[in-house]
Amino acid sequence: MTAHRIILDCDPGRDDALAIALALASPEEIELIGITTVAGNVPLELTQRNARLVCELCGHDQVPVYAGARRPLSRAPVTAEEIHGRSGLEGLEVSEPAMALQDRHAVDFIAESLGSCGDDGLTLVACGPLTNLAMVVADFPKLLAKIRQIVLMGGASRVGGNVTPVAEFNIHVDPHAAAAVFACGRPITAFGLDATYQVLAGPDHAERLESVGGAAARRLATLLRPVGSGPARFGPGLAPLHDPCTVAWLLRPHLFEAQSVAVAVETEGDHTLGTTVVDWWGVTGRAPNAEWVTRADGDGVLDLLIERIARL
Ligand code: BDR
Ligand code: CA
Repeated sequence: MTAHRIILDCDPGRDDALAIALALASPEEIELIGITTVAGNVPLELTQRNARLVCELCGHDQVPVYAGARRPLSRAPVTAEEIHGRSGLEGLEVSEPAMALQDRHAVDFIAESLGSCGDDGLTLVACGPLTNLAMVVADFPKLLAKIRQIVLMGGASRVGGNVTPVAEFNIHVDPHAAAAVFACGRPITAFGLDATYQVLAGPDHAERLESVGGAAARRLATLLRPVGSGPARFGPGLAPLHDPCTVAWLLRPHLFEAQSVAVAVETEGDHTLGTTVVDWWGVTGRAPNAEWVTRADGDGVLDLLIERIARL
């Protein structure tokens, strides 16, 4: 039996694509029972298409892909083409995959999977806005106990935000969904920018993956290079590799350190919308609702990613 049965909810997205590939390349530890997609980096039509494309490219077209929420719970959609390109997978040649999209809605698939899984439950890995997961939490409260854990990429505290001075993209796009998920009562491990800014990828990593990998790895390697020159603050050609940290933690938890904290999400505010408010010192008296990842071994994560994706 594999260690983790997971559903990967995502908005591919260049780093989402690498998270999918890392999971697919790790069948000893991870059974990926399905991929659900959400509007985020690009609109839903593209995130579901991109998820199928990545599965095909990795030689895993048997993994079912479902489309979910077309827009956040209350706010208008926000996209991130400046980071991911118009296709969402800038750098990759993109075409319509042969693999079909599943008929059912992503939220129904997650609910049915939780309903039919054993007592061990399922791990939900979330690498995009949390709209789909929040819909599961709201519509299927009796199934919550079947969520073994939620491992998510989202939020920021000590390092500040990437779309506003204080908010990170996934949480900012759908703060109401994020608030519902952080309040759901199930175990959460959160990879915010505090962690992912310690995992910096660039051209050297792309070249390594190109030189050691097979055909799929050689194509995916481009995703380790940022679009354009990358954000100046990280150094020439470097950019944080966010979403694969979630899967890397399932594979090698010792590469990370976390602290149990109470996290609240700001759902209003002209300047603070989408902020994850982390109670580092217990001043609110609220019980911790998340393991907030504080440290990541960036070299270790990138070595793991390259070693695994090279197998595809
Ligand atoms: C997150 O936002 C998206 O652009 C990335 O795919 C990642 O999930 C980082 O803030
Ligand atoms: Ca993402």
